[in-house]
Amino acid sequence: MKTIFKIKSVLFGILFFGFIAESAAQEVKDQSTRDERVQKFLKESQQKWQDLNVPYEDGQILHDLIVNNNYQSALEIGTSTGHSTVWIAWALSKTGGKLTTIEIDKERQQEAIQNLEAVGLSDFVDFRLGDAHQLVKELDGPFDFVFSDADKDWYVQYFKDVHPKLKKGGRFTAHNVLQNMSGIQEYMDFVKSHPDYETTLDRSSSSGIAISHKK
Ligand SMILES: C[S@@+](CC[C@H](N)C(=O)[O-])C[C@H]1O[C@@H](n2cnc3c(N)ncnc32)[C@H](O)[C@@H]1O
Repeated sequence: MKTIFKIKSVLFGILFFGFIAESAAQEVKDQSTRDERVQKFLKESQQKWQDLNVPYEDGQILHDLIVNNNYQSALEIGTSTGHSTVWIAWALSKTGGKLTTIEIDKERQQEAIQNLEAVGLSDFVDFRLGDAHQLVKELDGPFDFVFSDADKDWYVQYFKDVHPKLKKGGRFTAHNVLQNMSGIQEYMDFVKSHPDYETTLDRSSSSGIAISHKK
C-alpha cells in the first residue's frame, strides 16, 4: 500500500513539475513573440506618428526606466494615439505591471486602443477617457512610474496630485521640458526645488524629459 502511495506521489510530482516547466517555457515564448511584434511595429511606425506623440528615442527612455527599475504600477497623463503607451505597456509586459492612461479626446483614444491591440499589449493597459484634471485626483494609486505629457500649464498641479500616491524610489517623468512652452519653466522650478525629489534631465531628443526620483 505504502509503495503504491509512493509511486503515485512521485508520478504526481513529475506531472506537476512538468506542467510548471511547460507553462514557464510557454510564457517565455509568448513574451519573445510579443517582443518581436512590438519591435517591428515601433520601427515601422517611427516616422508615422502625427498626434503630438513622443519621438522614438523618448519612448525608449521611458521603457528602459521601467524595465531597469522593475516598476509595475504606471500612470500616463496624455495618451493621444498611443506611441508612449506602447513603449510603457511593453516595458510593463516584461515586469508584470499595469498602466493606467488618461486621454480627453475620444478619437485619439480609440486609435490608441487599436494600436495596443495590434501589438498584443491591451492586457497591460487600463484606458480612461476624460479630463485628467479631475481623473488624476480620483485615482488611488499607488504608482511607481508616472509619465506626464498632457497640458503643460497643469504639470505642477498633476505633480502635486500624484506626489502622495507615488512610492518612494518611484519616478515622475514629464515631457517637453526642453521646449519653450507655457508652464514648463514653472514646472522645472517647482520640481528642482522639491526636497523629496532629485530631478535630472534626459536630452535624448530635443523635447527633453524631466525625471524626478522620489527619495
Ligand atoms: C502630447 S500629446 C500625448 C502624446 C502621447 N503621450 C504619445 O506619445 O503618443 C497630449 C495629449 O494630452 C491630451 N490632453 C490634453 N489635456 C488633457 C486633459 N486635461 N485631460 C486628458 N487629456 C488631455 C491631448 O488631447 C493630447 O492627445
